[in-house]
Amino acid sequence: MPLSLVELIAKKRDGGAHEDAEIERLVGAFVAGELADYQMSAWLMAVYLRGMSTREAVALTYAMLRSGRTVDLSGVLGFKVDKHSTGGVGDKVSICLAPLVAACGVRVPMVSGRGLGHTGGTLDKLEAIPGFRTDLSVDDFIRIVGDVGTCMIGQTSEIAPADKRMYALRDVTATVECIPLIVASILSKKLAEGIDGLVLDVKVGKGAFMRDIDRARSLAESLVRVGTDAGKRVTALLTDMDAPLGQAVGNASETREAIRVLHGEGPPDLVECTLALGAEMLVVAGQAGTVELARKELGAAIASGRALAVMERMVAAQGGDPRVVADPSLLVVAPGVAVLAAESGFVASVDALEIGLAAVALGAGRTRADQRVDPAVGISIEAKPGAKVVRGEPLALLHVRDPRDAEAVRARVERAFAIANAAPPPRPLVLGRVAA
Ligand code: URA
Repeated sequence: MPLSLVELIAKKRDGGAHEDAEIERLVGAFVAGELADYQMSAWLMAVYLRGMSTREAVALTYAMLRSGRTVDLSGVLGFKVDKHSTGGVGDKVSICLAPLVAACGVRVPMVSGRGLGHTGGTLDKLEAIPGFRTDLSVDDFIRIVGDVGTCMIGQTSEIAPADKRMYALRDVTATVECIPLIVASILSKKLAEGIDGLVLDVKVGKGAFMRDIDRARSLAESLVRVGTDAGKRVTALLTDMDAPLGQAVGNASETREAIRVLHGEGPPDLVECTLALGAEMLVVAGQAGTVELARKELGAAIASGRALAVMERMVAAQGGDPRVVADPSLLVVAPGVAVLAAESGFVASVDALEIGLAAVALGAGRTRADQRVDPAVGISIEAKPGAKVVRGEPLALLHVRDPRDAEAVRARVERAFAIANAAPPPRPLVLGRVAA
């Protein structure tokens, strides 16, 4: 006799390990409405407290993946690789990375999310491009990945619907911070894209989901292990998210900054993050033998203008105005109101969480999933960690429609900057690497 659903909950509560079929039954019953939300919540709490083996996490990933549709990219020739970031402030890497890697001959199907809480979302940033559509059908997505090499859309309701409902329960039952649940949640959505490989950017620091490096490394190791067991080529980088990435925080300004990377410009930390992740993608795809060779290929794709050309074709294929690629200043950013340094010294740190929350308060992000964002507002970081500042010089610009809007966040942004007498020791952007 198979165990009843209640007995399955009790099994995990008592520290037992599930068979694959038991996890499939639990998720299947939940999606079919035979396991109530309160029962799923009890099971999620049991998993939170008792943990899961790699095998169980793989089974959960597949059960969640099978709850919806899988994109069939088998008709598109070439290796398909995506990048997933656990989220941060100023993280606009996907926007330049996808066309850059596609310009090197690897297919990049990308399903991205919206900003929620202090972290931004790629879809909101892309939609700052006039006309750009992220709500394409799966068939259009497949066609554009084939024609252009990359396409960036939002998660459809058909992809891993079990994750959407389970995440909503986790959010209100204090069970989000659980590594096997996070792993299954992320990988079920990524595997549904029909990819062959995946590079993960696990952010670490004040503005990240994982604040300390040991927890971030455990998450990265688990993602790589489960993804590899699922038959994919997976690598993870741990990257710094103590301070915002780049200078721009806000949708139109972040898209501007990402496009500038493909013009061979852009802030050094953003360029480094893009090249480090892009090199891993080319190696995962077998397009380059080493990360050093991969970096050369990426550099050549930028220098030759090939990456810009791919971006232009992607923007046009998705309904956007392709002229913004040649001239990113066409993206409208609201005028800036300066936040000035109250003392002279060196910027010791810029708190990414505080900057992210201030940007949300200006209207660049949302605290509820149904809120609209204003693409033109945001914050520019004028003095990054390590910069020398003189009293009265700008630390940041607050991009606002009405100068009075700046006052609500001015103190918060000022507090986000720590000024010291000496420059802080340089902090590497890439803090670690986890490979299979
Ligand atoms: N991101 C996800 O997609 N799922 C989680 O559980 C946590 C972060």
